[in-house]
Amino acid sequence: MPEHLPRRQVLRTAGALGLGAAAAGALSGPAQATSTAGLPDKLTAMGVHHGKLEIRKDPFGTTSDGKQVDVYTFTNGQVTISMLTWGATIQRVETPDRRGRTTNISLGFDNLPDYATLSPYFGSTIGRYGNRIAKGRFTLDGTTYQIPINNGENALHGGTIGFDKKVWTAKVVQNDKAVGVAFTYVSPDGEMGFPGELTSTVTYTLDRRDTLRIDYYATVAGKPTIVNLTNHVYFNLAGEGSGSIEGHVLELNAPSYTPVDAGLIPTGEIAPTAGTPFDFSQPTAIGARIRDDHPQLVVGRGYDHNFVLGGEADDDGLRFAGRFWEPEDGRTVTVHTTEPGAQFYSGNFLDGTFQGIGNKTYRQGDAFAFETQHFPDSPNHPNFPSTVLRPGQTYTSTTTYTFGTK
Ligand code: BGC
Repeated sequence: MPEHLPRRQVLRTAGALGLGAAAAGALSGPAQATSTAGLPDKLTAMGVHHGKLEIRKDPFGTTSDGKQVDVYTFTNGQVTISMLTWGATIQRVETPDRRGRTTNISLGFDNLPDYATLSPYFGSTIGRYGNRIAKGRFTLDGTTYQIPINNGENALHGGTIGFDKKVWTAKVVQNDKAVGVAFTYVSPDGEMGFPGELTSTVTYTLDRRDTLRIDYYATVAGKPTIVNLTNHVYFNLAGEGSGSIEGHVLELNAPSYTPVDAGLIPTGEIAPTAGTPFDFSQPTAIGARIRDDHPQLVVGRGYDHNFVLGGEADDDGLRFAGRFWEPEDGRTVTVHTTEPGAQFYSGNFLDGTFQGIGNKTYRQGDAFAFETQHFPDSPNHPNFPSTVLRPGQTYTSTTTYTFGTK
């Protein structure tokens, strides 16, 4: 556990994690290190420190059809992340603030039934297709496919039972630079209406410099398909359940965005952000213009839009997407990605009807999500980058979240 933290804080953190006093001394549980290949060796980060990389595995619950769900908790001594095999879900992200006070900044639940029945994708790995497909319908190589409708007249985040509601297999990955878990799920041909058997492996690793790296990898067998994987972590950098994120300051590398219709389906237009409330090229509070008289803020009930990322990628194919900063406690999260877009969602549909992990009710605007992705409804927009994956091809995508303070 964190060596630089006072013992009292270590115990409190471990207790909050449900790890118990035994875990406070050592986070290394029964998890087995099985692979060191493919981990990032380029460390891009804000804070440099050299904590011990540790991981443990604990039971979390059992699904209604009897499958065990585990929680993996991994730490670098400063940042601690808990992930469930249910939906390859980020359950907790504990980071210190400017003064070294550690808290959970990610929305979630402490029990499986709430994830199964209430969760608006808190921390979930999303598939087979992130965000919306108009009327759940698309045509590929002359065949039309129908995904179950679950959002107005459209399909959202892979249909009624997406990858967020599946139990993934998990394998610990650990080397001297990073620690985490590789999650795998095999989606049969025809599941949720999608063609082809899709095997997805999504690897979440935390390095010594407070970067959580997500590497997505998928192949399809039998038939071509469409793929758009993402993660739907919701953050409140002042702490989960602490109130509105309207004071968070956002800087986005997004010269344009994709306006939507009343059902939040892109119209097909790629519109400039300059001169609109969607321009975050200069750091600006999320709430500064959220009530402006702009038709896109009305249909979105705030920000719920795909931003088209600009700028050049580095040697890894990663480019700066956005940075969020909470000025009071000083936490930051900086996102880089290989994806062409990101859905910035200002928590508009959180409606106060349930409580999260800290027994606080989540209300509208109490968190934001920033889902790196190909554009929503791409299969129905030939002018958008393609999301088609064919047998023999490999889908890859990488996103990093770097935690820091300012
Ligand atoms: C969508 C929102 C939706 C949220 C949670 C986002 O990706 O764009 O409209 O409410 O996910 O489901």
